[in-house]
Amino acid sequence: MTVPLLDLPAQYREIGDELEKEVIEILRSGRYIKGPKLEELEKELAAYCGVKRAVTCASGTDAILLALMAHSVKAGDEVITTPYTFFATGGCISRLGARPVFVDIDPVTYNIDPRLISAALSDKTAAIVPVHLYGQCADMDPILKIARERDIPVIEDAAQAIGARYRGRPAGSMGSIGCFSFFPSKNLGACGDGGFMTTDDTDLADRLTILREHGAKPKYYHKVIGINSRMDALQAGIILVKLPHLDKWHEGRRRNAAFYDRRLADLPLVLPRVAEGCDSVFNQYVIRTERRDDLRKYLQEREIGNEIYYPVPLHLQECYRDLGYGEGSFPEAEGAARETLALPIYPQLTEAQLEEVASAIESFFA
Ligand SMILES: Cc1ncc(COP(=O)(O)O)c(C=O)c1O
Repeated sequence: MTVPLLDLPAQYREIGDELEKEVIEILRSGRYIKGPKLEELEKELAAYCGVKRAVTCASGTDAILLALMAHSVKAGDEVITTPYTFFATGGCISRLGARPVFVDIDPVTYNIDPRLISAALSDKTAAIVPVHLYGQCADMDPILKIARERDIPVIEDAAQAIGARYRGRPAGSMGSIGCFSFFPSKNLGACGDGGFMTTDDTDLADRLTILREHGAKPKYYHKVIGINSRMDALQAGIILVKLPHLDKWHEGRRRNAAFYDRRLADLPLVLPRVAEGCDSVFNQYVIRTERRDDLRKYLQEREIGNEIYYPVPLHLQECYRDLGYGEGSFPEAEGAARETLALPIYPQLTEAQLEEVASAIESFFA
């Protein structure tokens, strides 16, 4: 039996009729950019994330870029973030001419270690960008405390964490802006690219809305320099169909995680740990072993999907050589990049598939 890392056609089989009806309706309407679908979606997303406003945009990457722009991050500024994340987190900082200042991760959660942030602050620090990796929130209270004391905004990279909670608070509702992605592999994925930002600050939401449309308000009158980052109506309609299914899908992921937790408990592996007060949505289920590369090969030979998120931490990427970091700068991020492996966790996995994955890992260690 083969088990893919992600099976989007299986999700499509579940809701295909609803999706097709919605897409055809939008095609017939002729309203492809902005319009009522976007407005409805922004209201629904704000309610789901427990914030006053949600502003859609073209991708999770643009959400981070726009959030940094809304806070006027510019050349010469520094932005504190984690080196163990998808490239977009660091790339957006650099695209504005600012410098990413990396802080190592907590090896238990793989999220930025708040105890190390103070030492990275300088008078150039313009923002802190924690990432809620794999669907679990970073330890936000100490991060928010440091930021409040210095009057620095916290921008949550919640691309992998829609619906996750930290001490009861939803991802994206704690910092000044939350950034989300609708990349198809996310728990709530579009059929293409899309993203959105959340905030409780209505002035900031207005600013984000203007920035995503070339800084214009009204049309053709440009207050500031923005970008074109619209989400289209087709993707909005697709997300509106999927949103009511999201909590059920989160539950399916948690159920699958609990299965692996039980089945893999006695193997020489580090299993994912959900920190106290956190409620993970398991965008990924990531295990850890010194024998990662051999295990990956073994699973691949058996056509069991797996992936390394992420093999090279940002501070060791070729494009970041000039930042002056090197091997050993962030030992926890480097260790995680060397030893972790994501297993299939999507909610449509069958019991037989879960069993196949678990028994393959068991036989590898046997
Ligand atoms: C942590 C993180 N940040 C940012 C992004 C960027 O999102 P997108 O691919 O929608 O641009 C992603 C996802 O791809 C992500 O996982």
